[in-house]
Amino acid sequence: MIPSIEWTDDNKVKMIDQTLLPHELKFLIFEDYRDVAVSIKVMNIRGAPAIGVAAAMGMALATIEYKFLPIEKFLKSMDEAAHLIKSTRPTASNLFWAVDRMWKIIASTNEMPPVISELVVEEAKIMAQEDINVNKSIGKNGADLLEDGDTVLTHCNAGSLATVQYGTALAPIRTAIEQGKDIRVIADETRPRLQGAQLTAYECHYDKIPVKVISDTSSGLMMMLGKIDKVIVGTDRVTSDAVFNKIGTYLVALAAKDNKIPFYVAAPSSTLSLNETIGDVTIEQRDSREVSDVLGKVQIVPDGVECLNYAFDITPFRLLTGIITEHGVFTQEELIKKYKEY
Ligand code: MRU
Repeated sequence: MIPSIEWTDDNKVKMIDQTLLPHELKFLIFEDYRDVAVSIKVMNIRGAPAIGVAAAMGMALATIEYKFLPIEKFLKSMDEAAHLIKSTRPTASNLFWAVDRMWKIIASTNEMPPVISELVVEEAKIMAQEDINVNKSIGKNGADLLEDGDTVLTHCNAGSLATVQYGTALAPIRTAIEQGKDIRVIADETRPRLQGAQLTAYECHYDKIPVKVISDTSSGLMMMLGKIDKVIVGTDRVTSDAVFNKIGTYLVALAAKDNKIPFYVAAPSSTLSLNETIGDVTIEQRDSREVSDVLGKVQIVPDGVECLNYAFDITPFRLLTGIITEHGVFTQEELIKKYKEY
């Protein structure tokens, strides 16, 4: 896949408009950080790592806009930009991690704003490249868990489109295929935003990875029938006691446990938030029309009936076989020990 987001040579942010996929591959180009913030909110770009990089690039655009202000005004304006970007979506750790990483650069130098801006732009570009490297390491670590002939179920889209490139949950699959293994993907549709049907299916098809789409409610039966060998999903945040990921992940994990099917979570360390527990996390609730109206077009619920739209759910560690990071594959205890200081 082509990168989902890039910093251009003329200092703009270029991203795939994921709301138009799979029908149209169109790019958006932004030079105002406010537009980047909107693009995160309305999900032109989505997926925790991609959101993180978009947030970093948004901060970089803000430094360019404000670089000729006196330092106090620059800092105040950057603080406002950071708040705006952080307010776009509440659940993915990467958003906050990325803005804080940019803020650290701003706070730890005595340079004047034009130089700070250069440093922040450079850091945003580094972050984008790091994301690809991290995903490839997740791919290597996770590919060892896959056997020739495996069919892997994934939920939502934690592929190239959810990152800068290569993906997290799809990385082990990509690497295993590169190693010559015969691997097939089952993507569940992932109501209500249909990231599985629209995005995972799109990128697998684009990259010639064998993929079939099922309705969300089919995965339990498919497991019972022996048609799924492993499950790999991504995550938006890993706390010390659970994994937060796209709504529906918990039910897939329960079905996997009941059917003794390995269930792995692919998580770059930028998604780890191990000093937090479940109660610290805000689960995003999106517009109820995403549930009541299919793709914003056809209303499927009677007028006057309320819909609830939780965007993420919570999967306890006891349902997980392991977490795949760029550093290895871990149990809950191993993960906490390894990343205690992170
Ligand atoms: O609402 P989205 O599309 O941003 O949700 C995406 C997910 O839940 C992904 O599984 C998660 O961000 C991991 S992406 C590598």
